[in-house]
Amino acid sequence: MSNEEFFAAAERELMAEIDTSVPHSARIWNYWLGGKDNFVVDQEAGDEYTRTFPGIIELARASREFLGRAVRHLAADQDVRQFLDIGTGLPTEDNTHQVAQRAAPSCKIVYVDNDPLVLVHARALLTSRPEGATHYIDADLHDPAGIVRQAADYLDFEQPIALMLMGILGHVNDDEEARSIVRHLVGALPSGSYLVLYDGTATDQAFIDAQQGYDDTGAVPYRLRHPERVADFFAGLELLDPGVVPLPHWRPDPSPLGMPPSVDAYCGVAKK
Ligand SMILES: C[S@@+](CC[C@H](N)C(=O)[O-])C[C@H]1O[C@@H](n2cnc3c(N)ncnc32)[C@H](O)[C@@H]1O
Repeated sequence: MSNEEFFAAAERELMAEIDTSVPHSARIWNYWLGGKDNFVVDQEAGDEYTRTFPGIIELARASREFLGRAVRHLAADQDVRQFLDIGTGLPTEDNTHQVAQRAAPSCKIVYVDNDPLVLVHARALLTSRPEGATHYIDADLHDPAGIVRQAADYLDFEQPIALMLMGILGHVNDDEEARSIVRHLVGALPSGSYLVLYDGTATDQAFIDAQQGYDDTGAVPYRLRHPERVADFFAGLELLDPGVVPLPHWRPDPSPLGMPPSVDAYCGVAKK
């Protein structure tokens, strides 16, 4: 069996295991970002969501733009060469490795997600520049020790690493557990490392209502926190300017139109 045949058979086997009866976070996110890797159940739930809270589309796009600006800043201006992106999502246009390796081709990226469809599409994430490397780990955020153990096969935990928790901490409902996961992951990083994080916030009643409707479908729920709770995740770290702010306000690219409009998701980048 050729490599191609082997991967195609493995993908068919994985596809057979995918639950298409309830919406999934990675797939609905892909739908809102204009992707094709989603099912009818995700499209219906996505449309229901936008009827209540149309702002989710702008939020999803703003989150990818923040990812681009933050990763570019770390690779180009802070010389970070290692990235651990947990809750990667389905591949889109400008994934972490493409942004990072455009700035510095030797960057190494480890992607982590627990959704079987992300695993099926992971090959699209593994197209590294020859000077660098990309890896994919099928693991759960609720097991930070397991993530660190597996990531250590690919990343050097004695050199700075940018830990990315992008739109994933809402999947951990309990505040103390979420803080403890972040503490564990950040604790494993050497000083000079960074935490890059954003999360949707409970700053708009329509957003809260739409999220409640989504959670009621039986999907894995997503907890919208107050912006101050999002800021708490950076405790003990040195926040880069401008601090914890709505996604479009984190170092926006210069525009003659001034500051872009806000969205209901807050982000920050901080150094250990
Ligand atoms: C809202 S999407 C965000 C995707 C991407 N980080 C972005 O910002 O565009 C959340 C991602 O987290 C993943 N995820 C959710 N719970 C997880 C868990 N317990 N462990 C690992 N990944 C998880 C989902 O599969 C999905 O890909």
